[in-house]
Amino acid sequence: MSLLYISDAPRAAAWARFFAEAAPDIAFRVWPETGDLADIEYVVAWQAPSGLLASLPNLKVLFSSGAGVDHVDFSAVPSGVQVVRMVEPGIINGMVEYATLSVLALHRDLLDYLAFQASGAWRTIEVLPASARTVGVMGLGVLGQAVLERLGAFGFRLRGWNRSARRIEGVETFAGDETLHRFLAGCDILICLLPLTSQTRGILGRGLFHALPRGASVINVGRGGHLDQAALIEALDAGQLGRAILDVTDPEPLPADSPLWRHPRVTLTPHIASMTQPETAAPRLLENLRRHQRGEPLRDVVDRQRGY
Ligand code: GLV
Repeated sequence: MSLLYISDAPRAAAWARFFAEAAPDIAFRVWPETGDLADIEYVVAWQAPSGLLASLPNLKVLFSSGAGVDHVDFSAVPSGVQVVRMVEPGIINGMVEYATLSVLALHRDLLDYLAFQASGAWRTIEVLPASARTVGVMGLGVLGQAVLERLGAFGFRLRGWNRSARRIEGVETFAGDETLHRFLAGCDILICLLPLTSQTRGILGRGLFHALPRGASVINVGRGGHLDQAALIEALDAGQLGRAILDVTDPEPLPADSPLWRHPRVTLTPHIASMTQPETAAPRLLENLRRHQRGEPLRDVVDRQRGY
């Protein structure tokens, strides 16, 4: 029985070291050295080369090496194969750090002060307590909940919106499309942590921006496909939105001629908010794989119909 790992060489080396020590019974193969294709029962990949999965007669589980699975072509995954998304402490902590960094930068006007410094201006903006601001998170999965929990420690007022109902202590939660505008109406800072599906594509668009209070800011750490870029620029230029912090764009990398690069109220990072960390991800994946071997249900299985 073997596991095929598909990624770059430094990551592969870290994963191979862990598996050699913790699971010597599993033959750890690194793409393109597949060994006998019939031996492969597990694949770990961000994106499997086209046609590969269908050529593995005994494949049981495809583990995504990332939290999102919108890039997975489910039609290329044989129907009996389960798809598992990556949920691990390294990804969660990275996302909590980035969201906290972004919310605090907006809350304490850091991006304005960087601009003041660049122009040599000694200028102050009134400091508000965290309790005077409401942060709203769209997408109340593992990542959204972890972000809210940490932000709560600063004293922000918290809101959350999700497709299905969730109860989270200290958070005013909203469920379903019919509550979206009520949710948005109270958010000073909005964080998008939704999965990208046909229902959420373009959700950060004109209607949503106008449902926010005037001057609200948006942080997108979901996917670039959530955002209507033209609508964002229009809302920023009209003053409807204060600022946008974007870690994801569509496409990536962002083309050199995109107006987002130079917009004074857009802050961009190149999809680095959160990364799978081999030290925490490999043990977590092995634990899940062992569950499968024992015939127990896998954790973090993707619902192909829902797409997350
Ligand atoms: C990164 O974007 C991921 O899905 O893990």
